[in-house]
Amino acid sequence: MDRNLALEAVRVTEAAALAASREVGRGDERSADEAAMKAMRAALNVLQIDGTIVIGEGEADETDMLYIGEKVGSDRSGPPIDIALDPLEGATICAKGGQNALAVVALAAKGSFLSPPAVYMEKIAVGPNLPPGVVDLDESPVVNLRNLAKARGLDVSDLLICILDRPRHEDLIAKIREAGARVMLITDGDVSGVIATAQPLSNVDMYMGIGGAHEGVLAAAALACVGGQMQGRLVLRSEDERARARRRGITDPSKKYALEDMAKGDIMFAATGITDGTLLRGINRFRGGATTHSIVIRAKSGTLRSIEARHRLDHFGEVFGE
Ligand code: FBP
Repeated sequence: MDRNLALEAVRVTEAAALAASREVGRGDERSADEAAMKAMRAALNVLQIDGTIVIGEGEADETDMLYIGEKVGSDRSGPPIDIALDPLEGATICAKGGQNALAVVALAAKGSFLSPPAVYMEKIAVGPNLPPGVVDLDESPVVNLRNLAKARGLDVSDLLICILDRPRHEDLIAKIREAGARVMLITDGDVSGVIATAQPLSNVDMYMGIGGAHEGVLAAAALACVGGQMQGRLVLRSEDERARARRRGITDPSKKYALEDMAKGDIMFAATGITDGTLLRGINRFRGGATTHSIVIRAKSGTLRSIEARHRLDHFGEVFGE
């Protein structure tokens, strides 16, 4: 993979984030999503790659833009690249003007990403520099907390566990609190929640719970770049979801995916903040322009670049239709 593609990836997330930023706080998830999708697709189609979306906005019969299997890029004779993306991770956050809305993309050689349907996934993730297998989806929350605390030289009561604030997690939250650990509840945006485990300043020690499978693969792509451990298992709640998984080549619906089953190889991961968050600052719009804050990481080198950019919105409009 051409390493310059990493910087091109940032243009893609910047475009989506800038477009979504017009919609922050307007209470309209759909228009925020559509704006981000259109801008991300336009930016992807400028890249000189033969790209195929493997994690997108849904399947071909569910959406006409950025669907799984859609070809993007301007050079069919260019390098074949698989793309995992979410133009607006946290549509509700964006609509409500909350924290941690992101635009995210990951690029890698063909076959590097798991490509499940848009279903739920049970996830567990921890940051880098821990013994392999320190946490496991098949262990109880108490055992995982004890093992993690021991490996970190901490007490269970020191640990902070990030979980999506959903009724389905009531039991999990109760067990974690009973064991003595602390819980950080997030309203949405579990890609940021998983990445937080690898950010020392976030204080998050582990991510647990059920969220989107697509977000799971995107988070795995980020952790594969910065180090960390993650496991995921699809949650298929109906015969329709099981059939959709089979159509995507998933033969074992209860398979426990390791990080490298979800994202492997020379991945390039880029994210741009739409609203302020633990990972990135959000977009600041001013008369005629806007600033963006992004990160881009290459798994091969482990280099993480933090990129601040100042954009002229008249130029952005010419290119991406603002
Ligand atoms: P969207 O941006 O697609 O709305 O996803 C936000 C999100 O919070 C994800 O981060 C998370 O994985 C998923 O929704 C959880 O789904 P649900 O809201 O159904 O619990």
